[in-house]
Amino acid sequence: MKDSTIALLSLFLIFFFPVSWTTSASTSVQDNFIQCLNNASNAQPFCIEFHTPNNSSFATVLQSYKRNRRFDTPTTPKPAVVVTAAHESDVQGTVVCAKKVGIELRIRSGGHDYEGVSYVSQVPFVILDMSNLRSIEIDIENGTAWFQAGAILGEIYYAIANKSKNHAFPAGVCPGLGAGGHISGGGYGNLLRKYGVATDHVIDAQIVDAKGQILNRKTMGHDLFWALRGGGASSFGVILSWKVKLVRVPDTVTVFKVNRTLEQGATDIVAQWTQVVDKLPNEMFMRVWLKTVNGSHAGEKTIQALFVGMFLGGAKELVELMNNRLPKFGLQQSDAIEMSWIESVVFWADKPLGTPIEVLLERATKPAIFLKRKSDFVKEPISNAGLEAIWKTMIELEDVAMLWNPYGGVMNKISENKTAYPHRAGNIFKIQYATNWMDEGIEARNLYLNKTRKLFEFMTPYVSKNPREAFLNYRDLDIGTSSNGDYEEAKVYGIKYFKGNFDELVRVKTNVDPDNFFRNEQSIPTLPSCKL
Ligand SMILES: Cc1cc2nc3c(=O)[nH]c(=O)nc-3n(C[C@H](O)[C@H](O)[C@H](O)COP(=O)(O)OP(=O)(O)OC[C@H]3O[C@@H](n4cnc5c(N)ncnc54)[C@H](O)[C@@H]3O)c2cc1C
Ligand SMILES: *[C@@H]1O[C@H](CO)[C@@H](O)[C@H](O)[C@H]1NC(C)=O
Ligand SMILES: *[C@@H]1O[C@H](CO)[C@@H](O)[C@H](O)[C@H]1NC(C)=O
Ligand SMILES: *[C@@H]1O[C@H](CO)[C@@H](O)[C@H](O)[C@H]1NC(C)=O
Ligand SMILES: *[C@@H]1O[C@H](CO)[C@@H](O)[C@H](O)[C@H]1NC(C)=O
Ligand SMILES: *[C@@H]1O[C@H](CO)[C@@H](O)[C@H](O)[C@H]1NC(C)=O
Ligand SMILES: *[C@@H]1O[C@H](CO)[C@@H](O)[C@H](O)[C@H]1NC(C)=O
Ligand SMILES: *[C@@H]1O[C@H](CO)[C@@H](O)[C@H](O)[C@H]1NC(C)=O
Ligand SMILES: *[C@@H]1O[C@H](CO)[C@@H](O)[C@H](O)[C@H]1NC(C)=O
Ligand SMILES: *[C@@H]1O[C@H](CO)[C@@H](O)[C@H](O)[C@H]1NC(C)=O
Repeated sequence: MKDSTIALLSLFLIFFFPVSWTTSASTSVQDNFIQCLNNASNAQPFCIEFHTPNNSSFATVLQSYKRNRRFDTPTTPKPAVVVTAAHESDVQGTVVCAKKVGIELRIRSGGHDYEGVSYVSQVPFVILDMSNLRSIEIDIENGTAWFQAGAILGEIYYAIANKSKNHAFPAGVCPGLGAGGHISGGGYGNLLRKYGVATDHVIDAQIVDAKGQILNRKTMGHDLFWALRGGGASSFGVILSWKVKLVRVPDTVTVFKVNRTLEQGATDIVAQWTQVVDKLPNEMFMRVWLKTVNGSHAGEKTIQALFVGMFLGGAKELVELMNNRLPKFGLQQSDAIEMSWIESVVFWADKPLGTPIEVLLERATKPAIFLKRKSDFVKEPISNAGLEAIWKTMIELEDVAMLWNPYGGVMNKISENKTAYPHRAGNIFKIQYATNWMDEGIEARNLYLNKTRKLFEFMTPYVSKNPREAFLNYRDLDIGTSSNGDYEEAKVYGIKYFKGNFDELVRVKTNVDPDNFFRNEQSIPTLPSCKL
């Protein structure tokens, strides 16, 4: 690091280190924050809208973008204030005021964080809700789009399809995901093998930094722009908007959804799937969802493998391809359904065929189920014997499902440090451990968390090692957390999420947010001062 940068950093540390708070003082910190916001409102044409526990709107605003009931219980810590930003200057005001009064800030766009990190903290905090900043501009001529952080993927996909049948954006399959969090964590979807992750298509971004300044690609510099793509923006600033490059899709794509139980040969099919799925043509994406179901005899359990696939092309070609490369699966012409890309988005959202595409514009209103997710990456095929052992464990645990998502394709061609998103060549598939439950209470919660962790333990021999890689978007606090941005603690999860990119992320963080204002349980730490 240059001497001049160090001098600047020291100045920054001396003059801007936030006033510390204590729990007993939290009310006055809240009052100070509100006073500061009101002051900021007076200095701009619009008032900044905020909600405290005193406002009747508080509960609805807080709950409306929670997507996990695990963090919607009477004991879940609540923020002192929720700011619902309607203008870019509201975001600037919120950052400046939170920093000034020394209250923690959590940033929420779509609210899908699996550990509630965008709306829960163990210390007094403020939520900056971005869901009203959701405008979308599609420029078909140039093949680009601008959208704000609070836009959801369904709205973006809908807006693209409204302008062109042959354009798409390669991001997640759940239409409710917020652009703000999803894209900076990577963004994995069914165009991955053809086009990579969502973050690979970002060509510009607007961000509010820890000083409250609005920066774009040019003014933020190469390093920060690199870090925002895959490094998790919440360690660096608030994303206001993304500019992305769109990709091309054919008039017709073909989808299928076919299940096989163990009695129907699922073990052989899944074994073959692990041998070929990463080597299929890039136009092919085929995931398998594994869960325990009732067998054909009373009281007996079996495993159901539900295969969901998409091919960027017609049904005839797909069936030929599948019968060539995955003959054990036995895909029938009648299983293959041709449709437009935007209709496939509705299909992947698990809606019945024929559902109007306007369903993509819907936003959920409250969390319906309790969730726990974990992730893994798999680099070797799994034998029949291995699969049988996995099935046995799943049947014993019963409630823990797994989604196996294919890798390969262009992911093998992108270097690990092109962006901060590191999980590239050498992966056959990615696992999402998916446990959902409806029973209330701590006992139930511990039971389902334990089951999920047991399956994760059991999977150790089959998955990546040193590090055991994890996917940031499938956030999992089990893999490590850091208190107050401790570097050694952070390194434990940092290496799993970011591999060799972790230290570069720490360097960028130290430059752009030396006070560690933008922090959470799994944020990027600043460099320990002895290493500066
Ligand atoms: C039902 C469901 C389906 C999913 N499907 C997929 C999938 O197909 N593919 C996939 O890759 N992932 C998937 N995910 C995971 C999802 O991508 C991540 O949870 C993602 O972070 C969600 O972004 P969000 O804005 O909705 O969430 P939020 O909870 O709002 O934010 C998530 C994280 O990003 C930060 N953040 C949010 N907005 C901003 C901003 N404007 N600036 C800076 N930081 C911000 C938050 O502070 C938090 O750390 C799924 C999650 C759920 C619940
Ligand atoms: C708000 O403005 C008033 C008057 O200008 C000032 O006295 C006060 O300190 C400000 N409060 C905060 C928290 O900035
Ligand atoms: C909320 O209400 C309580 C009493 O009802 C009051 O003491 C407190 O100052 C109020 N807080 C705000 C931020 O208005
Ligand atoms: C919430 O209450 C405060 C006063 O405590 C008020 O200034 C603010 O406008 C209210 N917000 C909403 C959204 O009604
Ligand atoms: C395409 O991009 C160029 C350069 O950024 C811009 O001048 C032009 O207006 C854009 N086209 C459309 C249709 O917006
Ligand atoms: C685009 O959206 C407008 C307004 O919602 C609608 O009237 C129009 O039919 C849509 N066009 C296409 C091609 O979907
Ligand atoms: C599994 O397939 C059968 C037909 O083969 C179908 O009736 C059933 O609904 C499918 N189950 C799921 C969960 O898709
Ligand atoms: C599975 O079988 C059990 C009895 O063994 C029954 O209670 C349960 O409802 C069945 N589940 C489904 C989804 O059919
Ligand atoms: C990526 O790593 C390679 C080799 O380790 C290095 O030469 C290159 O400069 C790095 N690229 C970036 C963008 O950091
Ligand atoms: C979950 O596991 C913990 C530690 O392994 C154990 O103490 C606890 O009793 C378990 N709880 C349930 C409900 O299984």
